[in-house]
Amino acid sequence: MLDLTQLRADTPGADELIHFNNAGASLMPRVVLETVIGHLQREAVLGGYEAAAAASQRLENVYASVARLLNVRPDEIAVVENATRAWDMAFYSLPLRTGDVILTSATEYAGNYIPYLQLQRQRGIEVRIVPNDAAGQVSVQALQAMLADPRVLLISLPIIATNGGPVQPVEVIGTLARAAGVWFLLDACQGVGHLPIDVQKIGCHILSATSRKYLRGPRGVGFLYVERELCAQLEPAFLDLHAATLQTPTHFEIRPGARRFENWECNVAAKLGLGAAVDYALTIGIAPMWARIRRLAEDLRTRLAHIHGVSVCDTGAIKSGIVTFTLDACSAQAVERALAMQTRRINVSRTTVRSTMLDMQARGLQEMVRVSIHAYNSEDEIDALVDAVKSFAREMADVR
Ligand SMILES: Cc1ncc(COP(=O)(O)O)c(C=O)c1O
Repeated sequence: MLDLTQLRADTPGADELIHFNNAGASLMPRVVLETVIGHLQREAVLGGYEAAAAASQRLENVYASVARLLNVRPDEIAVVENATRAWDMAFYSLPLRTGDVILTSATEYAGNYIPYLQLQRQRGIEVRIVPNDAAGQVSVQALQAMLADPRVLLISLPIIATNGGPVQPVEVIGTLARAAGVWFLLDACQGVGHLPIDVQKIGCHILSATSRKYLRGPRGVGFLYVERELCAQLEPAFLDLHAATLQTPTHFEIRPGARRFENWECNVAAKLGLGAAVDYALTIGIAPMWARIRRLAEDLRTRLAHIHGVSVCDTGAIKSGIVTFTLDACSAQAVERALAMQTRRINVSRTTVRSTMLDMQARGLQEMVRVSIHAYNSEDEIDALVDAVKSFAREMADVR
């Protein structure tokens, strides 16, 4: 059972404003904030390298915590700057060549889709989009049929898109990938801390994620999981003296484990903060948080749908905590600004065709208001948001 009062007391920002931008960057719990600041203070008085040496066991523990979060082994984890760098390091290391095929979803993030196009141009690989089923998620039947082509080497898609939509059926996708003998790269950037993610159940070979979103860690840090057996075969696209060791002037050895995807310099305070965020989420319980997030999001969708001029845009058999909508004749930016006004202080964000082009174009959308709910958000905050959207919609209708 979640204790909402405690969750909010743990969150310094919860008293300051109403934050529904958890898919952008969530509000850090106090323990995360104190971990980051504490380390920065030690750097200031001990020296950066000396502070890191003093924190060496705690830094090791970060890998164990992330491994526990995903149900994998600590040597299968690399901690890097963000989800994009994590994803890139794995993707660009895969031996994809002319004629090889990648399958992805229409909900793919532009930051991942652009590298597909780059490899298409550079190496002659081919990208194919798995069509959606009637509910709006990846069609399992279509995926199965597409996997019959032996040129398919990789399935790569996000569990939850940056613009919301369905929670993809990743366990079924993973089973199909394993049966077909193709790699499965899961972008769990919007998934970690949002809903339970068990790599043993999903069966993905690679997973990338970030700290600052639903995990509620600091900015500027993310992580990568690469299955041990695959990792041993992958040569990172970039190497440095942390990822590899110079043995002689003509010979180097790549280090074992997923840390071959890291580089030497990092934000140590942020890395410790990531560990604190993971430990906090695991202590609270991700399954109960997911149940609450879904309940709040469903309630919000129902209530927004009753407001004149509002169209709720979410699709999928299982919907996430990201609620998207448009307001007639009004830009998403105008809604975002109106809600952020000093009297309301409600943070939402806007998601545009630039981030998820295939999905948005297929639905005839240029942009949407994105309300991303976390477990620490209260029922009162949902009420305040609904009232604010209602009154803004009325103001806009009066102007017209
Ligand atoms: C689905 C998805 N993948 C990847 C990313 C990139 O994450 P980062 O900004 O940490 O690199 C985002 C960021 O919004 C995202 O929503």
